[in-house]
Amino acid sequence: MKRHVVTLEELGEGALAAICSYALEEPRDVLHGQGVALVFEQPSLRTRSSSALAVRALGGWPMFITGDEIGLDHRESVEDVGRVLAEYYSVCALRVRDHGVFERLVATVGDRLGVINLLSRAAHPTQAIADVLTMAEHFTAGRVEDLAGLRVAYVGDVTNVARSLAVALRRLGAEVVLGAPDAYQLAAAGPEDPRRIERGSLRLVASAREAVAGAHVVYTDSWISMGLEAERAERLAALGEFQVTEELLAGADRAAVVMHCLPAHRGEEVDAQVLDSPRSLVWRQVAHRVSAMRGALRWMKEDS
Ligand code: CP
Ligand code: NVA
Repeated sequence: MKRHVVTLEELGEGALAAICSYALEEPRDVLHGQGVALVFEQPSLRTRSSSALAVRALGGWPMFITGDEIGLDHRESVEDVGRVLAEYYSVCALRVRDHGVFERLVATVGDRLGVINLLSRAAHPTQAIADVLTMAEHFTAGRVEDLAGLRVAYVGDVTNVARSLAVALRRLGAEVVLGAPDAYQLAAAGPEDPRRIERGSLRLVASAREAVAGAHVVYTDSWISMGLEAERAERLAALGEFQVTEELLAGADRAAVVMHCLPAHRGEEVDAQVLDSPRSLVWRQVAHRVSAMRGALRWMKEDS
């Protein structure tokens, strides 16, 4: 079986640390002459660009394919798409609407084709890898293993990004607080569940103020994730108190930083001045998307 990066929860112990360590090393030609299929059923700027750069840095060649072109389960089945991709590529990275696609691909061609999740409704693992690299760069001289004890508050809608981030942070021993109204809190079940990680700590609270109290990092994501546009009005009404503002940050650690996976919606989940202030690490997060993807690809290829 090849190695896959579908959720961070499914990765074995030590894999996250290994990926982060590869991310910080000089790139090696581990994809020399190999193709990587990058399949996008939904829009992307950062993931698409950083994936292409990472594949090239490791000596491979990226091939973009849009969801409309291949029509997963419409033009042909996910399984047949997987069988075709396995004939041409060594890795397939996908942004999909239905997280179940990954299980089907791994079951069909997982012994021949490495599979990476580039965002599903359940998880965004490559973003979380970039985020812990960013935190380590800021707080612990690049050592993710020293993030134990860091206090991270995530506020707003508990999205795919929040789930993968919380899993990654708990794995590294950090203290995570998720602040959200009940209807937007961590879903009761499903893949990439930070409740199942045994290290670090996890607290769920219904108040943004309580969530950020003493936090070293305050993280947020869009209130209207891709595919949820029809819920815009009710989400804006329900999540208003969770906007990351200077006033909210007054309750965090004095040196707290602000993070956001982007794209940002100034005036919704985050105040414009906060996002554009010196305490915002968002552009370092963007930069680390490339190293994170390099690390993930290298980890997949090293021992396969
Ligand atoms: N953060 C992130 O995944 O951005 P894109 O949707 O632009 O790839
Ligand atoms: N939660 C957001 C993340 C975008 C990178 C979404 O799924 O649209």
